[in-house]
Amino acid sequence: MEKYAIRGGNPLVGEVEIGGAKNAALAILAAAVMTDETVLIENMPDVRDTNILLQAMESIGTIVERVDRHTVKINGSQIHNLVISDGYVKKIRASYYLIGALLGKYKRAEVALPGGCDIGSRPIDQHIKGWKALGANVKIEHGLIITQADSLKGSHIYMDVVSVGATINVMMAAVMAEGQTIIENAAKEPHVVDVANFLNSMGANIKGAGTDVIRIKGTERLHGTEYVIIPDQIEAGTFMFSAAITKGDVTVKNVIPKHLESISAKLVEIGCEIEESDDAVRVVASKPLTHTKVKTLPYPGFPTDMQPQIAATLALAGGASMVTESIFENRFKYVDELTKMGADIKVEGNTAFISGVKKFTGANVSSPDLRAGAALVIAGLAAEGFTVVDDIKYIERGYEDFHLKLQGLGAVIERVEDDRELQKFKFKVG
Ligand code: EPZ
Repeated sequence: MEKYAIRGGNPLVGEVEIGGAKNAALAILAAAVMTDETVLIENMPDVRDTNILLQAMESIGTIVERVDRHTVKINGSQIHNLVISDGYVKKIRASYYLIGALLGKYKRAEVALPGGCDIGSRPIDQHIKGWKALGANVKIEHGLIITQADSLKGSHIYMDVVSVGATINVMMAAVMAEGQTIIENAAKEPHVVDVANFLNSMGANIKGAGTDVIRIKGTERLHGTEYVIIPDQIEAGTFMFSAAITKGDVTVKNVIPKHLESISAKLVEIGCEIEESDDAVRVVASKPLTHTKVKTLPYPGFPTDMQPQIAATLALAGGASMVTESIFENRFKYVDELTKMGADIKVEGNTAFISGVKKFTGANVSSPDLRAGAALVIAGLAAEGFTVVDDIKYIERGYEDFHLKLQGLGAVIERVEDDRELQKFKFKVG
């Protein structure tokens, strides 16, 4: 089983190129099948989740041509099957974006119900509410979500909770519905805006993405396009916090600083210096870190996907900090792992009470989920001695070449396949 082997203690210094946004790419890849013409997508992250989604799309007849690691041509004209098998959905819940896309284009789709995952139950009631409001019949049978509509008609939909997935999935179904759809209480994340811009480049008529009211005028058909996915806000934030936690000096390149504002603001609060330019942000952590309070919120608030990373950093900051998780109900599973490294954190309900400690010592830890795994890696980079992070398949779902990019910043980290390689690493780095 692959693991990351780390010898901590080096401040991270240098520049790192940020890749395309995973959570925009997953929806954009699914939406690309809504036309029978060819779509060219660039700056796609080469990660497990996007690769599995492309396989799911090929399984129903989508023509997928991989131009290079980050560029793919998609053509949905030969789709012959509208049932996505549960094998794919089990591996990646975002396969459910194919429902919105196929329902919008073919007026029917069947996809296995995505299970919960490590961070919470993750219902899809708001997705279903939106599709039903557009006139679709939606039923759940034998673990499948079965959707069908004679026709889809625009509707005025009020989301009960701010949901990225539901906003995107309903938006996709609505772009080819008859008439106008209004989605109230919509999610405003950068990747929601990116999906709307992508659909508009295919001939859709979406206004207001990025605000909490999205207005869509349905169109008969969509055409091919060429599109470049936005940079990944969370990959960038993870590297920004890797600078803070290791007292380093890291510049994240190919980013949109505006998308990182809440992350930069917290880094300044805990004592880092931030320098912004058009497409880069530099984080310098030369002073001892201090405590703060943070609560995760929908964009533009502090992202839930950055919660484990800031908590790990605050565990090494002076004083008492509080991290409140308001989006998911079970996103503190990494705390027990950080405790093995010497962290002093008490979780009560949806708040972690953190008492900063002087240092972490390396330990063997396991990644409970994608972002928690990334947090354990950056904690290991700051720890004294060796840390081994296993279950890194979670991390590789969303971070492309994570250990290689960290090596480029001076981290002593390798991806090892077995204990023999681990011993070799320990012997080599001493
Ligand atoms: C997306 O998940 C992201 N995943 C998540 O990133 C991210 O944490 C989340 O948005 C919040 O930003 C992808 O984009 C593939 P939600 P999603 O619907 O869409 C509740 C990562 O690490 N809810 O915005 O599933 C839900 O339970 C992943 O990259 C309902 O109640 O999140 C949660 O409490 C992890 N009913 C809240 O809304 C619904 O129908 C926000 O969830 C849908 C959601």
